[in-house]
Amino acid sequence: MAATNGKYKVHVKIKRYQPAENAEPYWQEFHVEVEGNDRLLDTLNKIKWEQDGTLTYRRSCAHGVCGSDAMRVNGRNRLACKLLMQDLGARISVEPMLGFPVIRDLVVDMDPFFAKYEKVKPYLVNNEPAPRTERLQSPEERERFDETTKCILCGACTGSCPSVWANAEWVGPASIVNAHRFIFDSRDRGGAERLNILSDRTGVWRCRTIFNCTEACPRGIHVTDAIEEVKRAILYNSTDGD
Ligand code: SF4
Ligand code: F3S
Ligand code: FES
Repeated sequence: MAATNGKYKVHVKIKRYQPAENAEPYWQEFHVEVEGNDRLLDTLNKIKWEQDGTLTYRRSCAHGVCGSDAMRVNGRNRLACKLLMQDLGARISVEPMLGFPVIRDLVVDMDPFFAKYEKVKPYLVNNEPAPRTERLQSPEERERFDETTKCILCGACTGSCPSVWANAEWVGPASIVNAHRFIFDSRDRGGAERLNILSDRTGVWRCRTIFNCTEACPRGIHVTDAIEEVKRAILYNSTDGD
């Protein structure tokens, strides 16, 4: 990396696929001038705006909140808007997440992912009459599922899981994280139904405790631990926790 005035050149190798023109995906290399504080998303924007307007990827918030720019960077799933160029080296590979059908370049089809997410009923289930003010919960009860509320549904965990690569039907870690968020909520009454859904052949037991999901999560969620808690809840028929 030869730096001039804080700027230096990097080689970005991107896996391209434009279905109307390409029978197969192929790699294309771009040479880009960047600064260390640029994010990978800035670099992709620079390539798109200055070198090749056909390059296609999703992005929205640019601040690690919307979850739309998960992609495989140097072999690991990451959010492009959270990666500093100075941490990526001078030769960078960028490709779509594995385990998702590719629509175009870095854009993957999220429909199957969201279908599995919906399968676990990721919303509060409680048909009891609503109290006059609110459904109260102690700080300890709220703490029980605090971590899994942080999921932004980016898919980085699911796209890094070998069990998902091997079996597209498997519900995958992101769905289990979002089931966890409600299973352990003291106000919810749908836990037993979710545990039943997750105990079938496409449920939690296909998790082989590989930990790629935890390593990939940009929100720092201990995904594997959450999955283990759901497994224990199924085994002991209890959502008390331990
Ligand atoms: Fe993304 Fe983490 Fe949620 Fe998985 S658990 S979808 S990696 S935020
Ligand atoms: Fe996959 Fe994570 Fe389990 S990588 S096998 S979901 S621990
Ligand atoms: Fe929203 Fe990266 S663009 S999380």
